[in-house]
Amino acid sequence: MASTASVTPDTLAAIDPRVAAFLKRCPTRLLIGGEWLAARSGDTFESFDPSTGAVLGTSAAGDRADVDLAVIAARRAFEDPVWSGMSPHDRTRLLLRIANIVEANLEELAQIESLNNGAPLSFARAMITSVVDTFTYYAGWPTKIYGETNPSVPGILNYTLREPVGVCGQIVPWNGPLSSAAWKIGPALACGNTVILKPAEQTPLSAIRFGELLIEAGVPPGVVNIVTGMGETAGAAITDHPGIDKVGFTGSTEVGKKILAASTSNLKRVTLELGGKSPNIIFADADLDAAAATSVQGFCFLSGQICVAASRMFVHESVHDAFAAKLADSLAHFTVGDPFDATTTMGPLVSREQFDRVTSYFAIGRADGARVAAGGAAVDRPGYYVQPTIFAGVSNDMRIAREEIFGPVTVLIPFTDEDEVIALANQTEFGLAAAVWTRDLGRAHRVARALKAGTVWINTYLHVDLISPFGGYKQSGIGRELGRHSIDAYTEIKSVYAKLD
Ligand code: NAI
Ligand code: MG
Repeated sequence: MASTASVTPDTLAAIDPRVAAFLKRCPTRLLIGGEWLAARSGDTFESFDPSTGAVLGTSAAGDRADVDLAVIAARRAFEDPVWSGMSPHDRTRLLLRIANIVEANLEELAQIESLNNGAPLSFARAMITSVVDTFTYYAGWPTKIYGETNPSVPGILNYTLREPVGVCGQIVPWNGPLSSAAWKIGPALACGNTVILKPAEQTPLSAIRFGELLIEAGVPPGVVNIVTGMGETAGAAITDHPGIDKVGFTGSTEVGKKILAASTSNLKRVTLELGGKSPNIIFADADLDAAAATSVQGFCFLSGQICVAASRMFVHESVHDAFAAKLADSLAHFTVGDPFDATTTMGPLVSREQFDRVTSYFAIGRADGARVAAGGAAVDRPGYYVQPTIFAGVSNDMRIAREEIFGPVTVLIPFTDEDEVIALANQTEFGLAAAVWTRDLGRAHRVARALKAGTVWINTYLHVDLISPFGGYKQSGIGRELGRHSIDAYTEIKSVYAKLD
């Protein structure tokens, strides 16, 4: 069982005075065309500190009328020569200024993120560092967005141009609020698009502070607009808006399907990064200690609220019990506690809704006949804390093995041979990530090839680097983000034929 930290003043980070000041003034405004505007309706909504359940801040509840204004501002900015005619070198400089200003305000942004979504502060700092890395990486791209010259017939010159798609709606979730926004805004701006960002209603605060920093960094008015609000109103207004050319979405498969349906109104370009039920396969010859220690991170990192969570573990029957014991042992070194406590490795779930959802699966697993090998209950303290949980005696057709739980919950399923485990691992509607643990090199690559997943790890887990594509097979998504794949996703290709005589 994981231990529960008791908060002591010497391990608890102090709230940065800038954060306290930000929360005090808490702008209930939307960023539209470079101005901070109240929602047209005047409506607001509250967001919470999940470690206590207390109200943290108030945001403007934007909806269709505000999205309409944001689309006008984003279209105007897209066509304005200040943006459309900006040289690639100046675009690079602008993206670097964004990276630099985020880095200069890293502690403040990390604390806002941690307070609002419950990530341990040390993890939140790493997430904001990844925001800096993302803008730095995409700052390198404007000067490297190449076209082709193609070998057409004599007398004809054919070449291609990569041009921005236009106004991009970007709808992001609450698990990595600013990092998932950066994955979308970085490449969109590198390619010359304009953006309407819709943060999740659970975690709007870091986006608002980020918007203030974007203005300070000199991002031209209307290039990035931020509309906070509910998914069903502000989000839905983006997805079917005729003035939006592309939607980039990260979130649930359920909403991903709605977005795809809504996008048909004007055939928007759509990239979707959705749910997962990722298999983590442990063969008998694996380094069981390393597999156990890393696999605990795989299903407990950010309280299991990550799309690539190692939520289905297939373990060779000959090492099943030994691995289960090592996994439980590694879990014992995991400390559930206050996100601001330096000793905490797992904070609360993000919301009451997620808490109810995750705890309901404790009951569902038991009712389906699975055995709780560790955890299996809420933590008895205020806030949305649950115990890291391992279910054993699970079969691949139980709901806990099929549905995305999005909490620190994993299942152990025994297997006997390679073909069987490949079939079991692929027996899911998802295809986001997978991992294989073995010392047999041939087997490692054979299994990696056979798994239907957008990311496969061999003898490791959780590595995601900006330089490599990220996305899902099957119902885990459409398209790829990161690396040059985001450049493809944020550009249209134009083929030009010129007669030479
Ligand atoms: P969600 O998919 O409803 O929310 C994600 C984003 O979509 C938020 O910004 C939300 O406001 C927006 N949204 C919601 N409904 C919309 C609509 N009709 N049109 C346009 N935008 C809309 O996810 P939710 O409800 O927060 O979490 C439910 C489950 O989704 C989780 O338990 C988890 O399984 C999955 N999820 C997966 C994520 C991932 O990283 N792939 C992230 C968040 C949730
Ligand atoms: Mg939802």
